[in-house]
Amino acid sequence: MLMIVTLIVIFTSLWFLYIKFIRTSDFWKQKNIASAISVPVFGNIKDFILGKRHLIYIYDDIYNEFHSSQFVGIFEMRSPNLLILDAELANRILIKDFSYFYDRGGDVDEDLDPLNAHLVNLCGSRWRNTRNRLLPAFSSGKLKQMFGLIEDCVDELEKHVLPFVESGEPVDVRDVMAKFATDVIGRCALGLECNAMKDPNSEFRAIGRRIFKFTFKLVIRVCLKLINPNLLKLFPIKAVPVDIEIFFFSLLNEAMSLRKSAQERRVDFLQLMIDIREQEKQVNSKDELANSFSDTWLVANMFVFFAAGFETTANTLSFCLYELALNPDVQTKLREEIRKAVDSYELNYDVVTTLSYLDMVVSETLRKYPPIPMINRICTSEYRIPGTNTVLKKNTRITVPIYSYHYDERYFPNAHQFLPERFENAEKSLAYLPFGNGPRICIGMKFAKLEIKRCLATVILKYSFSTGPQTDIPLKIRARAIFLTPENGIKLRVTKIDNCTS
Ligand code: HEM
Repeated sequence: MLMIVTLIVIFTSLWFLYIKFIRTSDFWKQKNIASAISVPVFGNIKDFILGKRHLIYIYDDIYNEFHSSQFVGIFEMRSPNLLILDAELANRILIKDFSYFYDRGGDVDEDLDPLNAHLVNLCGSRWRNTRNRLLPAFSSGKLKQMFGLIEDCVDELEKHVLPFVESGEPVDVRDVMAKFATDVIGRCALGLECNAMKDPNSEFRAIGRRIFKFTFKLVIRVCLKLINPNLLKLFPIKAVPVDIEIFFFSLLNEAMSLRKSAQERRVDFLQLMIDIREQEKQVNSKDELANSFSDTWLVANMFVFFAAGFETTANTLSFCLYELALNPDVQTKLREEIRKAVDSYELNYDVVTTLSYLDMVVSETLRKYPPIPMINRICTSEYRIPGTNTVLKKNTRITVPIYSYHYDERYFPNAHQFLPERFENAEKSLAYLPFGNGPRICIGMKFAKLEIKRCLATVILKYSFSTGPQTDIPLKIRARAIFLTPENGIKLRVTKIDNCTS
């Protein structure tokens, strides 16, 4: 008898564990929503969790299988997620119906992970307050003031690249651009010299490498969250390692005391945040101030500018040089446009922002290689998908697969080719979403484009890029990453162009 009871208890417990933590539920079936075939434990993202394939390829297979539908249900481990396959619906969700989808569903436990409470992850009114206050940092006026800081880093870049060019060795442009972008964001966000280009042992570059590293701990954290978010409360694992946290808090102290002792005002993002705090002091009570605009608020947003700012621009610059090396005609045409401009003017803010072919080349790079290849939102209140009977409950997760839109032949014919001319007409397709769209569109878009264009203008004018035996063709994309990143760097031949005037 005891034996039978024991077996029943074991069987029931195993069944409970299977239902609660392993089996993907009939969530989509119950809602009458078509779903992609999933497997126990992993749902639809087995190859991603095992580090075999980037998520974009998994989504893309599902996108192509269901491409005549507006949306399809998937499971990320046990967590249901609605993939939005129709670009018009995606834009409606991001813009017109934003009030139903204003959060990304980032879990922020501020006690455990203070650096995670930044603009990307903040929700509701805290996000809105922070966004409104940070927006002026990215106005055209502020960017014009920062232009000189970017130019200083372009000068440094030349000094750093030149020795490689003279030695004739292939240059890993991805590594060079990561150092360049680290120095730019260091100066423009924090007002600090990161010295990533000058110093091979730069601490900032080392931190930058680690921020997006898919460590075993991070994979476990993602899995726990996707199996059941309550598991994260039982097994709290930090999203940002403690030494990176300490690094950024001490950076803030250093930057603040430098400013106090020099009694100077800077034009960087940190100065803007300091000014915001000063203004808030005039109107808010001590408690409100401590809650909303604390040191942690300041450091977390400095951290996100650093994190979001260097990897995305570094990857765009290096993917762009790769395509220019593969497409010498495009490279020559671009160089001609820049040369004509510098014959008459210098490469100042107004000139760089009005070079039309440069703009097309950057747009096409961001189409083929959107650095953030998907957008996430959660449904913040019940939402009926227009023209259907489908009602999404509060907290339903949705994903907009930007990468798949950008490779959809219906929107971009000959999608695998690099054709900047497709952007000749200023009107961009609804399916073109490298920076997202709507009120939560990338706050750093104008800054990123300015940095990328200013860097390319000098680099293409003075150097020629071509592929060699060490260039990965086609490029391999790193499987264990969220951002689109080349697996083995991008090694190109770089030669100096003689008789350059600027
Ligand atoms: C080529 C460069 C970049 C690309 C392609 C890019 C792309 C994106 C995308 C796709 C989003 C999500 C938008 C959405 O959900 O609708 C985003 C959000 C964001 N980006 Fe960027 N980004 C770039 C550079 C930057 C830079 C340089 C910064 C900061 C200096 C930055 C800061 C942010 C922040 C803070 C958010 C969250 C905005 C919010 O939730 O209100 N990004 N970015």
